[in-house]
Parts: sequence; C-alpha cells; structure tokens
Amino acid sequence: MVKRNPTKFLKDEYQKIQAEGREWVHRSLETPSETQVVVDGQELLMLCSNNYLNLSNHPHLKKKAIEAAEKLGAGSGSVRAIAGNMAIHEEWERKHAEFKEQEAAMVWMSGFIANEGAIPPLVRKDDYILSDMLNHGSIIDGIRLTKTQRKLYEHCDMGSLEEQLKLIDSEDPNGEKRILLITDGVFSMDGDMAPLDEIEKLGSEYGAMMYVDDAHGDGVLGRDKKGKGIVDHFGLQGKVQVEMNTYSKAMGVVGGTITGSRDLVNFLRNTGRSYLLSGSPPPAIAGGAIGALEVLDPKSQYFEPVVEKLLGNCSYFKSKIVDIGFGHEITAASAKCPTAIVPIICGENDVAKNLSDRLMEEGIFALPIVFPMVPRGTARIRVMMNAGLSKDDLDFALMKFEDLGRELKIF
Ligand SMILES: Cc1ncc(COP(=O)(O)O)c(C=O)c1O
Repeated sequence: MVKRNPTKFLKDEYQKIQAEGREWVHRSLETPSETQVVVDGQELLMLCSNNYLNLSNHPHLKKKAIEAAEKLGAGSGSVRAIAGNMAIHEEWERKHAEFKEQEAAMVWMSGFIANEGAIPPLVRKDDYILSDMLNHGSIIDGIRLTKTQRKLYEHCDMGSLEEQLKLIDSEDPNGEKRILLITDGVFSMDGDMAPLDEIEKLGSEYGAMMYVDDAHGDGVLGRDKKGKGIVDHFGLQGKVQVEMNTYSKAMGVVGGTITGSRDLVNFLRNTGRSYLLSGSPPPAIAGGAIGALEVLDPKSQYFEPVVEKLLGNCSYFKSKIVDIGFGHEITAASAKCPTAIVPIICGENDVAKNLSDRLMEEGIFALPIVFPMVPRGTARIRVMMNAGLSKDDLDFALMKFEDLGRELKIF
C-alpha cells in the first residue's frame, strides 16, 4: 500500500508562497474602518479600504443594524426559499430597486456569491459568454461554473468585442443561442471605467444580454452626484438587463444584489444555486444596508452629501498625484475617471513594496499590488479615496507620496 501523507502539501505549498513573496500578510485593524485607524498597534491614515463613502462606522447605519438585531435576532434561521425570508430582506430589496430605478432586486450573501450564482442559469450548454479580459475573479468563477462557450475580448476594446460578436453570428446564423455579455463597471486594479454605453450599443445590435458588475461604481458614479452607479452614469436603465452590486464597498456593510426586471429576479430566485442553498443575511446586515440607502436618498431625513464629498476628494487627489510626478499612463488615465480607485504605478514589485513599507512608517496605510496580480513592471500602490478624508489628510498623504517617490527614485 502506498504510504500517503494527506496534509504535507499544506505546509510545503505555504512555504513556497512565502518564499516567492506571494503571501497575503493579514494586518489587524483594532479600530472601526475609518479614515484614522489603528493597525497592529500603529495609528495610520487609511488609504486602502473600499469604504468609499465612509459609511461602515456611520451612526445611522449602526443604529439601524442594532435595531434590526434587537427586533429580529442575530440570524435568519434558514435560506430565503424555506424559512429565512424576512420582511426586512424584502424591504432592502424594494429600497435597492427604487434606488436603482429598476423593477426588482434580490439580495445575496455577497457580491462574489451573486456573480457565482447568477451567471450559470443565464446560459445553457453551447450558448456564449463574452467577457472583458480584466473582469473580476468572481465573474471568472461564475463563468467557470457554466458549460457554455467562453470568449474573452481585449480590455475595453470595442474592436475586439465586435470581432467576437461577428464570429458568434457566423457560428450561429439563426440566432438560436444566447449571448451573455459581461463587464466590470469600474476595474478594480486600474480604476478605469468600462465604456458601458458603447458596449451596450454593440451588444444590443447582436441581441446580447448585458450584465454589469458595478461593485466599484455603486455609491460613486452616476448623474447629479447621487451615486446610483455606472448604469445611471450612462442613462442605461432598462437597457442593461443584469446589474450586480455589492454592499461591502461604498455602502459600508456587506451583501450582493442583482437588479433588473421582475422576470429576471423571479427566474434567479428559482435557479441561482448560491441563493437557494445558502442562509440569508442576518437582520443586522439588512438594517445597516437600508440605513446606507437612507443616507444616500435626498428625500430622506438621514440624507448626507457623502457622494459629493467623495467625488471632490477623488478629483483633488487624482490630479495632484499626477502633478507631483506619478505620471505613468495608467495613473494618468485613472485621474480622468470619476472613480475612487487611484493606481499609483511604481514599476517593479520591490519598489511598490518598499514604498508601502515606507508609507506605513510615515503613518499611511496603503498596500502594494504586484505581479502576478497586475502585469510585470506595473506594480502599484492602490489608493482608495474616502468621503471622510479631510483636505489636510489628502495634503499630508500627497506630501508623503512626493517625498517617498523621490527617496525611492520613482521619478
Ligand atoms: C469587481 C468586483 N466584483 C465583485 C466583488 C465581490 O464583492 P463582495 O465583496 O460583495 O463579495 C468584488 C470585491 O472585491 C469586486 O471588486
């Protein structure tokens, strides 16, 4: 009989990850996720959380979460379809659909779970999925769970997308197969925006169903500084058939949503496996999420102009970071987008890592993103803007970036 060691690989693989510098060292936050935090005992300015609107420690959200927990308990007891469908989930969905100006919405435990569960039922074996090359891992995993034909198009490249659509048309001249066209709204590594108006226009010419993951656009993009997201930014309500959002970023809580037509939601409530087979969010999550929607609603007594504050911070920081010398084309391109992600390109992995370490010594929490997560030579510090940052905070950060950029000879 072969003498197997069933667990040896765990240590071996982990050591390999460490030796190759690929380990995700987890830092420990000892305070709420705010603009000023204590991380592993050190006071730092937070520049790497997705808490764009600074809502995660907001008094109104906390009050709503506490009230929901006190009234309805710590857990929901079941999956939605059996005994875990609470009135508060339905209220969250109704208010989210209203916010998005769509017919219907459904809530999932997270955005990752929503992508993983919603994509597979939308296509059959031998249909087509068309996906931007830089789409998020949760979309990639959702696609992997299908048996359909997958085609990638070059990042935000309309020529490449059209080429793929034409190819599909030639393979399926009678239009019997479905095409699901998926893109991130805002790309999390580069902070750039999908040209959703052009993508939707091309897709609709070929009869594709349009699916957008707006994890980083929600609460940030949209007309009149209302934070309704990329679909609203381009005025595409009713044309983008599937919108995925998350409450774990700008909305300050956690949970995924799918928004669209009543038909879409009815269909996915009965076919999305990670919806049907996973317990529903605890009441406190729903309470906090409803609180976030109230803070964003100009008609609500809890309204605060957090989106406006965030957008002001984004444009101030982005323009200055390029001016002080971080002029790589990716940084400069992101500076032209009203997104909250600022990729500050440093070059090789060790440069970005050194800059992050030095920033931390100087009081700033901003982590590096390195190859293989991003192309070689474009290792970066990915700064995330936050509505709660003051001008003094931003100027302090810019001063440190300028000093350290010189010290490390980045420019
Ligand atoms: C583009 C994108 N989609 C989906 C997700 C997953 O969202 P959640 O945190 O709700 O699981 C993320 C999170 O990193 C993301 O960046």
